[in-house]
Amino acid sequence: MKVTVTVNGAERSADCEARTLLVDFIRTRLGMTGTHVGCDTSSCGACTVLLDGRPVKSCTVLAPMAEGRAITTVEGLAQGGRLSAVQDGFHQEHGLQCGFCTPGMMLVATALLEQNPNPTDDEIRWAISGNICRCTGYMNIVKAVLHAAAAQRAAAAAPAPAELVAAGART
Ligand code: FES
Ligand code: FES
Repeated sequence: MKVTVTVNGAERSADCEARTLLVDFIRTRLGMTGTHVGCDTSSCGACTVLLDGRPVKSCTVLAPMAEGRAITTVEGLAQGGRLSAVQDGFHQEHGLQCGFCTPGMMLVATALLEQNPNPTDDEIRWAISGNICRCTGYMNIVKAVLHAAAAQRAAAAAPAPAELVAAGART
């Protein structure tokens, strides 16, 4: 059967069997391997993507269930060659070691900050509680998300370029 989804803003279609898992559809049919497969049994979170903005473990979703829906994978986080705040946070705070859990962690963090721009330590830990880091780098992952949240809040508070021009500032 043919499945059509919007991935990172672009419509993509591919044939697959009705029983194909979404993670396998993304990796093998769409050729996007940033989404990882760890356990294949909904335990590790390595396969997390955003489905209509909400984190899902894509090994628990059949590809046909995503028909017509919007998917965000790790490949969609950077925009115009710039890392997202969450990606930059992981970079600045050394939030990854082997990197296997990182795409899923970053997508969960992205969804969290969308809902809650100023999360506490505990709220971050709760948000990532379905994602396992086998390198046990949780402390730096939490720091990375706090870093991203602070950066996003600072960016939101900064005057827009048009306001700077109006105020006579050099841009
Ligand atoms: S591969 Fe999906 S939760 Fe582990
Ligand atoms: S960085 Fe290795 S699994 Fe998390």
